[in-house]
Amino acid sequence: MSFTIQECTDEDMPRAFELLSEAFGHEHPFVEYVFPAHDRPQGRRDGAERFLQWRKGDPLATNIKAVHNETGEMVGHAKWIIPKGVVPPEFELGGDYWETEDQKEYAAWIYSQYLVPRRQAFKDYGGNVVALDLMTIDPKYQRQGAGRALLKWGTDIADELGVDAIVEATDYGKGLYASEGFQVQYKWTTPTPGKWAGREAQSFWWMIRPKGGKGDES
Ligand SMILES: CC(C)(COP(=O)(O)OP(=O)(O)OC[C@H]1O[C@@H](n2cnc3c(N)ncnc32)[C@H](O)[C@@H]1OP(=O)(O)O)[C@@H](O)C(=O)NCCC(=O)NCCS
Repeated sequence: MSFTIQECTDEDMPRAFELLSEAFGHEHPFVEYVFPAHDRPQGRRDGAERFLQWRKGDPLATNIKAVHNETGEMVGHAKWIIPKGVVPPEFELGGDYWETEDQKEYAAWIYSQYLVPRRQAFKDYGGNVVALDLMTIDPKYQRQGAGRALLKWGTDIADELGVDAIVEATDYGKGLYASEGFQVQYKWTTPTPGKWAGREAQSFWWMIRPKGGKGDES
């Protein structure tokens, strides 16, 4: 089976959000808190609207999709940030999508803490780096090469620009990224201080692909 990689249009954002909801399920605290009720109709509508707003508000980001060659279906989505020497502005989580003020506050907290390594890297590199913000493949089409194709789209750009690439990897993505030259730097877990002690945190593997992709296979 093969897939074609294309740039998304605005009309692809509802499907892109559906893919996030289906690919992550309910296993990731970040997704649960930032996108409340993401598997329900209102949560899906809100998520699609937010993906569209984020897309329109971020000229440094590119949404791409993997399209199934036989059915024409969008089976995967990735968002790459390609700053080309600009340190990206830091967006805060906004909107009115949460049932309580506490849920909204914790969502904003986990969002900002999740982005700590990336924001530091953008500064350290002076924006001369490429970041994989998000990658999700329809569970029905995983392990068929769509993820690797979406990944290579961005690492090819990193190679053309002669820059490193960075990603916050889940356990599911880690092996794929390692096989394309990313190296684990450390495991990051969002802190849960004070009144949120004991609340679910989000962990990920902070990975860097040195320019040219001379990584290891670990
Ligand atoms: C992680 C994810 C994006 C990977 O996408 P994918 O399309 O399944 O990835 P690929 O098929 O390109 O490669 C994944 C693995 O399948 C293997 N594979 C590829 N084609 C295959 C095939 N035809 N048969 C069997 N295995 C295959 C690859 O070698 C790779 O193996 P690895 O785990 O040893 O690295 C996808 O599983 C996903 O959406 N997961 C949930 C969300 C998530 O965690 N996203 C990552 C955020 S950082």
